[in-house]
Amino acid sequence: MRLQQGVEYSHSILTEQLFEGANVVDATVGNGNDTEFLAKLVGAEGQVWGFDIQKQAIERTKGKLMKSGFLERVTLIQADHQKLAQYISEEVDGILFNLGYLPGTDKDITTTIKTTLRAVKAGLDILVKGGVMVIVIYTGHQAGKEEAEALLQYATNLNYKEYNVLHYQFINQASKPPEVMVIKKRG
Ligand SMILES: C[S@@+](CC[C@H](N)C(=O)[O-])C[C@H]1O[C@@H](n2cnc3c(N)ncnc32)[C@H](O)[C@@H]1O
Repeated sequence: MRLQQGVEYSHSILTEQLFEGANVVDATVGNGNDTEFLAKLVGAEGQVWGFDIQKQAIERTKGKLMKSGFLERVTLIQADHQKLAQYISEEVDGILFNLGYLPGTDKDITTTIKTTLRAVKAGLDILVKGGVMVIVIYTGHQAGKEEAEALLQYATNLNYKEYNVLHYQFINQASKPPEVMVIKKRG
């Protein structure tokens, strides 16, 4: 048995959760790798909403999805994910956040404690009962570490009668591999 690295683990959870025709949100589109993965999982009848504040990320992902033939099932939105409820009027089966900044670009354009907490709360509001929110968290830099602490504090205090929360983390590595938080809305 092989222990899965964070991003891989986030994909495993969503593979188990999603189905053909599912609704899902990619809250941080970036280079579009996760968006493409989600679009494949939900099939032609499914819907993906992808958010990113950077035009570059939206354009790059659009190109990627055109090539793979998945663009039709994806709505790409250049907006702050805090506002996701303004763009989505249905319940969703899954939500993915891959926090931090876009590798190879401006590190100052990054998720922050304030915006992430607001977006997580907004996301939980539109999550269907039985749905999951998966958050990939990078703690290798100070801002990411603080963001992780704030998220942990928030999620630890979620009512266990409404949510089950899991924290997946390697604890003895030389570097800081990504951590994963899974919030399942109880059905
Ligand atoms: C680590 S990258 C995401 C990687 C991506 N999922 C992929 O597969 O390539 C994080 C992304 O979050 C975006 N971002 C940062 N703050 C945001 C916010 N408030 N709302 C939406 N996107 C945001 C950044 O622009 C960046 O592209």
